[in-house]
Amino acid sequence: MSESDKEKQKIYYPNPELATNARIKSMDTYKEMWKKSVDNPREFWAEEAKMVTFSEPYKEVWTGSTPEDFVGKWFQGGKLNVCYNCVDRWVEKGYGNEKSLVWIGEDDTVKNYTFKALQDEVSKTANALKELGVKKGDRVCLWLPMISELAVTMLACARIGAIHSIVFGGFSASSVKDRIDDSDCTVLVVADEVRRSGKARPMKKNLEGIIETCPSIEHVAVVKVTGGDVWKYEKDVDFTALVEKQSIECPCEPMDSEDVLFILYTSGTTGKPKGVVHTTAGFLVYGMSTNKYVWDYSCLIDLKGVEPKDRDVWYCTADIGWITGHTQIIYSPLALGAITVMYEGVPTWPHKGRFWEICEKYGVTHFYTAPTAIRALMRFGDAEVNKWNLEKLKMLGTVGEVCNWPEWKWYWDVVGKGSGGEKPVGRPIVDSYWQTETGSYMMVNLGAITPMKPGSCTFPYFGINPVLLNEEGEKNTEPMTQSYFAYDMPWPGLMRTVWGDHDRFVQTYLTKFPGHYFTGDYAQIDAEGYYFILGRSDDVIKVSGHRLGSAEVEAAINSHPKVAESAVCPYPHSMKGSTIFAYITLMQGVEKAEELKAEIVAHVRSVAGPTVKPEIIMFSDALPKTRSGKIMRRVLKAIATMADIGDVMTLSNPEVVQHLIDERAKLG
Ligand code: WTA
Repeated sequence: MSESDKEKQKIYYPNPELATNARIKSMDTYKEMWKKSVDNPREFWAEEAKMVTFSEPYKEVWTGSTPEDFVGKWFQGGKLNVCYNCVDRWVEKGYGNEKSLVWIGEDDTVKNYTFKALQDEVSKTANALKELGVKKGDRVCLWLPMISELAVTMLACARIGAIHSIVFGGFSASSVKDRIDDSDCTVLVVADEVRRSGKARPMKKNLEGIIETCPSIEHVAVVKVTGGDVWKYEKDVDFTALVEKQSIECPCEPMDSEDVLFILYTSGTTGKPKGVVHTTAGFLVYGMSTNKYVWDYSCLIDLKGVEPKDRDVWYCTADIGWITGHTQIIYSPLALGAITVMYEGVPTWPHKGRFWEICEKYGVTHFYTAPTAIRALMRFGDAEVNKWNLEKLKMLGTVGEVCNWPEWKWYWDVVGKGSGGEKPVGRPIVDSYWQTETGSYMMVNLGAITPMKPGSCTFPYFGINPVLLNEEGEKNTEPMTQSYFAYDMPWPGLMRTVWGDHDRFVQTYLTKFPGHYFTGDYAQIDAEGYYFILGRSDDVIKVSGHRLGSAEVEAAINSHPKVAESAVCPYPHSMKGSTIFAYITLMQGVEKAEELKAEIVAHVRSVAGPTVKPEIIMFSDALPKTRSGKIMRRVLKAIATMADIGDVMTLSNPEVVQHLIDERAKLG
C-alpha cells in the first residue's frame, strides 16, 4: 500500500476540546440517542420541536400509521410562523440588538442586520408584497442574485404565508418561465442587474419576450441593484421604492404545521423539473435539529456559556437558489438564533483568497462549502490560504458531492491545519449528505465527536434509518457492495409532495422499493459501518455540485434547429466533479462542422442558463436504443469514458455501438 493509500484509510479525529463543551459529548451517547430516535421517533421529534415557538400547540407529533408511512403529517394541529421563529421571537426575548444576518457585498459593503433591523426590513417587504396583492397561499417567484433582498424577501413571504419559489440566478429566463407557470406565481421578484466580479450584467432584461407569456404573473417587482438602464415591461413595479415607503408593522400570519413554506424545483430522472414541496413545522424542526447537533455552534437557543455577542459565526457559501442556501443560510441558523454570513460574490474576486478573507474579517467559526469550490481554491496554492488568520475556525464542512481524497486532504491540512501521524487530529470536516427532497442532513458526522474517514458521510442523523438494497429490493448486508440507497422510515423534513403532481412524488421516491424512500443514489457501507455515497443511479448529473437533469439538458440541445436528437451523460472532470458529455444527431443534410458545436453550446447556455454547458460534444449518426425505443444510457456512459460497454444484446440497433466507439476514439 502506498503512503497516500495508508493515509486515506486512516481514521481522523476532531480536536478533542470540541467534545468537552459539546451538546453530545461521545459516540456512545450518539449511538444511544440514535437507537432511541429510530425506535421511538415520536418521542425524539417531540423533544426537538420544543425549540420551535408554536402559537397554538400541535395535537399529534406524527399521524403516520406504519413506520414506513411516508405521507403522514407532522405536528398536526399546530399553528406557527417560520419568520416569527427566525426573527421576531428573538426581538421579543430581548435580543433585538444582537447580530443575525451579516450580508457582505462583493465590493465589501456590509449590512450587519440585528434581529430588530431584520424584523423591520422583512416587515416592510412583506407589506410591499401585500400591496401587490399577495395573500396567504399565493406563490411568489424570486429570481435574484445573492443580494440581501433575497434573504429578506423569502422571510417576508414566510411572514405573510406566501409560498416562495426561488430560481437560481444562474438559470435562464425560460427556466424561470417554466417554474412560474407550473405553480402559477402571481408576482416575480427580480433584480435590474447583477453585480459580478466588478461588472454589471443584465438580469431582468433577459426576461424580454418571455415574461409576457406567463399568464399568472400580475406584477414584476424590480429590485434596484445597479440602477442600470433596463428594458421596461408594463407590469414592472419599482420594488425598492415600494418597500421603502412601507410601515415596519406587519403581523406574522399563523400557519398550520403542514402548510407549504416553499417550493423548490429540482431535476429528476425524466421530464421537467419537479416542484419539491416543503412544509412549515416539519422543515423547521428538522433543519434546526440537524444544525444544532451537527455543528454544535453557540446560538440563542443555547448559548453554551457565551454572551450573545460572542456567539459562533456560521458561514455557508452556497447560493440561496439551491436547497443548501434555503436551509443552511437562512432558515435553520436564524431559527436557532445564530449569526449567519451571506456573501454576494464568487470565491475568486477581487482575489483568490476571498473566502478566507471573509473568514478572518468576520471571525467565522464554522465554514461550509462544496467539494467543487475546494478543488478550485486548492489549485491556487496554499499561500492564498496562509495569508489569512483562520484561527477562529472550529469546524469545516462540505456538501453536494463526494469530497474525494485530494480535496479532503487539502482541506484538512491547509485550511484546517490538521495533524498527520498515526492518529491525526484537527478541525473536523463535516461531510453532509442530503438532498433538496430531504430538507436537511441525512447522513453526517457530528462535528465535535464523530471520527472521520475521508470521502465518507459517516453515519445517519437521528431519526434516520438508512438501508442498502439490491435490484430486488432485498437488504444488502455485505460490506463494500454497491447498493441502492434508501430510507426505512420518514422524518419531519422530508418533502411532502411534488407541486401539482402527487402521483409523481409517489412514483419517483416511494415506488421502486415499496416501504422505502429511494434517494436515487448508490452507496456502500464498510465493515465499521461507515457509509460511502457512490453517485447517482439515475440520469441526474452533478456539475460543480449543481444538480441538472439529463432530460432538461437534452430538451435545450434539441431546441437547436439543426439538431434531430441528443442524449447526455456525466463525464468525469477534475474541477467540476462531472461535466456534460453530449451525443448529438444532426438533422439530415446538416454538416458535422466543428463550428456548429460552439453554436450549439451558445444556444444551450441561452436556453437553459450559463450553468448548463455541454463540455464535450460528439456528433453521431444514431443513438443506441432498446427495442422499445429507449436510449440506452448505460452504453453511452461507458462509451464516453471508454469503459467496457457490457452486454448490448437488447439493443435494436447494435451496429451503432461500433460507430460510436470509433467516433469517441477520434475525439481523444
Ligand atoms: C449528491 C444538495 C456525496 C447526491 C444538498 C444527492 C452528495 C444529490 C453529498 C442531491 C455528499 C449531496 N456526498 N454525494 N455529502 N451531498 N450529494 O438536491 O447525489 O442539489 O442525491 O441537494 O447530491 O443534490 P441536491
